[in-house]
Amino acid sequence: MAAVKIDHVTKSFGENQVLKEFTDTFRDGEFVTLLGPSGCGKTTMLRMIAGFEKPTSGQIFLDDLQVSGGKTFIPPEKRNIGMVFQSYAVWPHMNVFDNVAYPLTIRKAPKDQIRKSVERVLEIVHLSQYAKRLPSQLSGGQQQRVALARALVAKPGLLLLDEPLSNLDAKLRESMRFEIKDIQVSLGITVVYVTHDQTEAMAMSDRIILINQGTVQQAAPPAEIYNHPVNPFVADFLGKVDFARGNAEKGRLVLEGTGQSVPYAGGRQGKVLVAVRPEKIRLSPSEGPLEGIVESLYYLGDVSDLRVRVGSVSFRVITAPENCQSLRPGSPVHLSFRDMMVFDDDGSLDEALRIRT
Ligand SMILES: Nc1ncnc2c1ncn2[C@@H]1O[C@H](COP(=O)(O)OP(=O)(O)O)[C@@H](O)[C@H]1O
Ligand SMILES: [Mg+2]
Repeated sequence: MAAVKIDHVTKSFGENQVLKEFTDTFRDGEFVTLLGPSGCGKTTMLRMIAGFEKPTSGQIFLDDLQVSGGKTFIPPEKRNIGMVFQSYAVWPHMNVFDNVAYPLTIRKAPKDQIRKSVERVLEIVHLSQYAKRLPSQLSGGQQQRVALARALVAKPGLLLLDEPLSNLDAKLRESMRFEIKDIQVSLGITVVYVTHDQTEAMAMSDRIILINQGTVQQAAPPAEIYNHPVNPFVADFLGKVDFARGNAEKGRLVLEGTGQSVPYAGGRQGKVLVAVRPEKIRLSPSEGPLEGIVESLYYLGDVSDLRVRVGSVSFRVITAPENCQSLRPGSPVHLSFRDMMVFDDDGSLDEALRIRT
């Protein structure tokens, strides 16, 4: 059982402030993902929770116990936390059983108790029949499960996982996602998961905390962060999106560079930035407020993936293949937005977001 409270935590390395005013509470049993581009501060946050780094300011609590902040500092080995890193180090000379038993062996736990605990946790990660094998006799995914078992063997209240799947191939990564999620649910354990992979974050998390350059952009459940991003960075980071500049006036939104407009019921006026996801665009031979030309069309079996040019703006459209059977590059087509995200356009985001025209 462990809730994590992070209270106004900042972290600097010398002059370099890598985390700014991080405040959040992770519920007991919650699966929270720290998501963001490489270098945004995810690992640093995780290492502060674990106790491998001290915050420059702010406090961290595990349940109601303060573990960092002010004069207080509880070292990692006293925090009852399990951890798995990207470069999961399993000891090559020890068999699976001994690898997993290690955290209990160094605590000099009774032999009988060690055996019971290891057997239990090997069952959880589906490795019972491999107890006697050396890591070199296991696949990458199995080795990763050994690292997971070792992190779980001492029954931590909190499990910290730092990009644990990034060394695995794509197929294995996908199946391990579900395995880790299953383990978390069945043990009721709190997990803080670090990744730069938005699909992984979407699939596993109760809540995603998206960080950019040390600042939390949004903390919300996957569906909310995907459908209601608070700013263009969030919209761009999670899922596919195209941006266009626009001008909101009298119930319509005129898209710059197109001479065309779409209906707009929202409250903004004047210059805006519009973001549209490819699966939220409807195609039709003759219906819809925007007229465009098919630039490219790829049949991918389950869906078709198109680019449609409207004036000087290009929109990606992902739709069922039967919706575009008669289309070819060069075909005229109408578009309507089933949904769009509208942000203030202060002009500051152009470079970061590579506005695609
Ligand atoms: N021990 C350290 N000393 C100096 N700078 C560090 C140290 N650890 C991390 N950093 C810097 O902090 C920033 C965030 O790093 P990190 O937390 O590892 O990012 P992420 O895990 O999101 O990729 C980076 O600019 C990194 O260079
Ligand atoms: Mg990292």
